[in-house]
Amino acid sequence: MGKLNKTLARFRDGAHPAHGLPPAAYLSKVFWKKECKTVLADNWVCVGAAHELTAPGDVVPVTVAEQPLVLVRKQDGEIAAFHNVCSHRCMTLVEEPKNVGKLIRCPYHAWSYDLDGNLKASPHFGGTDTHEMDGFDKTKNGLVPARSHVWQDWIFVNLNGNAIAFEDYAGALISRLDGIDFSKLTHIGTLDFGVVETNWKLIMENFIEPYHVQFVHASTTDQPLSDHYTIVDGNCLGSAVDLSEETGTSGSLAVSSRYLTLYPNFIVGRYFPDQMGVYLNIPLGPDRMMQKRYLYTTEDQTLPPSEIDGLMKLWWDVHKEDHEMVERMWRGRRSVAAADGGLLSPVWEDSVRAFQEKIVADVTATKGN
Ligand SMILES: [Fe+2]
Repeated sequence: MGKLNKTLARFRDGAHPAHGLPPAAYLSKVFWKKECKTVLADNWVCVGAAHELTAPGDVVPVTVAEQPLVLVRKQDGEIAAFHNVCSHRCMTLVEEPKNVGKLIRCPYHAWSYDLDGNLKASPHFGGTDTHEMDGFDKTKNGLVPARSHVWQDWIFVNLNGNAIAFEDYAGALISRLDGIDFSKLTHIGTLDFGVVETNWKLIMENFIEPYHVQFVHASTTDQPLSDHYTIVDGNCLGSAVDLSEETGTSGSLAVSSRYLTLYPNFIVGRYFPDQMGVYLNIPLGPDRMMQKRYLYTTEDQTLPPSEIDGLMKLWWDVHKEDHEMVERMWRGRRSVAAADGGLLSPVWEDSVRAFQEKIVADVTATKGN
């Protein structure tokens, strides 16, 4: 902790303009391990979308804080999360999205679990044709559940089970999405970007400041900086742009928008009048993350395929523009010249600073780890 406090001295020195987080927060395995135990364990972390598990028996493996988990659509239609590991030899059970029917079966020795995680079969564990034995209680060797919550189309996990109830945790975000009739939310497409070679926090920081939009997205958007403002509201950080006249043409973005996040990794963009995008950001280590974008309409529309193609192309290009920036920001942090963590605009990047302060508060909290 002493070393960490020393690393954070510049961040905390009260300078104006403020410094960003030190490079170690983005590069160091020690800092990443700390995040795994705090930021990514204490909070509600987005791990997937409910529409990707449509039928009972659908399973999707995910990783949170280096923990392999599996999302399961149960017989009763609910979605649950379990640690993705067999009680027998601790092998991961599910390696890719699929439908398992009624049982999750370990391929190693055929131990099998129902969709509620109960251990149903442990063949020949006590000898040939002896599946049970004294001292071995099947009811105590089911899958270990992880606390999960489905809000609208999005699945969240709280690894340590100690976060406040999701609706309270996400209250600021939920109230800022007021006015959306979620029963009319329609998934129209998914962009899978695979691995992005950056630290996950740089993706979040990039999203919640409006400063770069005019420069990085000059050809894909038309949203003047002067119309933007930042949002710092509890666990909801982001920015917004209010345009008096909607001048959007297909192939560019020139509409009033809300760019909102739910700390630590959930991103939702709302584009008036009727579009929404959600990013799935999965941190994999200090130097890698995975990203997907889910595209939605909010008024139940069925768009013609050509319009969906146009939106997919637009958003692919916007994300790629951002990926170049965040990959280069990550590489830049290896320079000795980055030691002070750079500088943050008090106007356009106060939201970034708020995100970084939340990270610091979490990783330095004294909780015995
Ligand atoms: Fe951007």
